[in-house]
Amino acid sequence: MTPSEGPIRRHLLPLTAKKTSAGALSIGGLSLLDLAEEHGTPLFVYDEVHLRSCCRQAVAAFGPGVAYGTKAFLCKAMASLAHEEGMMLDVASGGELAVALAAGVPGDRLVMHGNNKSIEEIAAAMQAGVGRLVVDSFDEIGRLRGLLRRSSRPSLSVLVRVTPGVEAHTHEYVMTGQEDSKFGFSLSTGAADEAVDALAGIRGVEVVGAHAHIGSQIFRTDAFVREVAALASFVARHGFGELCVGGGLGVAYLNEEEAPSVAEWASVVRSAGAAAGLTADLRLTAEPGRAIVATAGITLYRVGTIKRLPGLRTYVAVDGGMSDNPRPVVYGSGYEAFLPRSPDASRPLSARLVGKHCESGDVLIDDARLPDDLAVGDLLATPVTGAYGYSMASNYNRVGRPAVLFVAEGRARVVIRRETTEDLLALEP
Ligand code: LLP
Repeated sequence: MTPSEGPIRRHLLPLTAKKTSAGALSIGGLSLLDLAEEHGTPLFVYDEVHLRSCCRQAVAAFGPGVAYGTKAFLCKAMASLAHEEGMMLDVASGGELAVALAAGVPGDRLVMHGNNKSIEEIAAAMQAGVGRLVVDSFDEIGRLRGLLRRSSRPSLSVLVRVTPGVEAHTHEYVMTGQEDSKFGFSLSTGAADEAVDALAGIRGVEVVGAHAHIGSQIFRTDAFVREVAALASFVARHGFGELCVGGGLGVAYLNEEEAPSVAEWASVVRSAGAAAGLTADLRLTAEPGRAIVATAGITLYRVGTIKRLPGLRTYVAVDGGMSDNPRPVVYGSGYEAFLPRSPDASRPLSARLVGKHCESGDVLIDDARLPDDLAVGDLLATPVTGAYGYSMASNYNRVGRPAVLFVAEGRARVVIRRETTEDLLALEP
């Protein structure tokens, strides 16, 4: 039996995943079969213990300046949870900023990002008193200058976003560190130094450090070593007290994958800093998104149609698809699937797992492995869907977005309710 045909491996499941006495899978003490009955499908279920544990590990590894990359998954409950566990929050738009503030996260625990921040977004960030504004372009510096001229606010701490010229081995769409990028100031052309000089001339701005982000879903930590090495002389030259290496740590999605832990990542980054001559008092931080939420979340679907094409393949269709998980279509990302009624079953059946949308490209798993006794009406789960699933979900085909539950200690709370037809019509006059 190959790893892909064997049962789903433990490291792809949330921390509190366990078998019930009936042999089905439970998370946070609640059977997934019961949760689906009560809340309907598709359904995102997050293990709160797992989320909290990831946040704590990040703070332990990087210190209190570490920020959760909220683009991976954000709602008020998630924002408060990350804040309660000691993380700062990285917000990359006025909308993410507003959700974090609505959750009660203090402005000084927020890091504001964006390669094309509007005047309104910069003003809102200043109004909120964000802890860090990450400056991304000369146009933004101009807007900042204009806004600060009219403001009497205390000084704003900024980081300069740098493209370090480092290529991580990941999907082209999520590669960000290379020179040919819409983000940040180039180190090699001197643009990053020019940005520091331009910012130094603005009253009310304090440039406290540098920021870079080289990509996402990175398994090999050597890319971060190259990133730190590329940034070290820039940091030293300007006497910065802070360097943020961005997010990007990969997670395992498939049985045969293993990813480094946040602690290993931090230790690689710290050693790289020391090797590059950065002093120990430098605040070395990071912004993990995926590594905090991916494995904590799981999606539950109901199987509605099974179509067997002899000599070709079997299609298994569920009641969601590319609207709740666009990653397979957009990035060709792989996932596993299993049946919560029998999590230990081997999976000899090979099938294409598809959604309910009106196009052939609506594929969740091209070659899913499933138990032989799979039947219409079964509950099917795809693990490791906690990052960039709900946050990238759409209403394609006017399908409402799923509900999201946080589960812990035998209790479930709806943190985002299911979208209704009324919601879908609410924007129309
Ligand atoms: N910081 C910055 C400046 C970022 O741009 C990102 C992600 C992060 C932190 C968090 O990165 P993470 O630790 O989650 O890799 N939608 C894609 C991922 C796009 C990531 C964009 N930036 C996906 O589903 O794979």
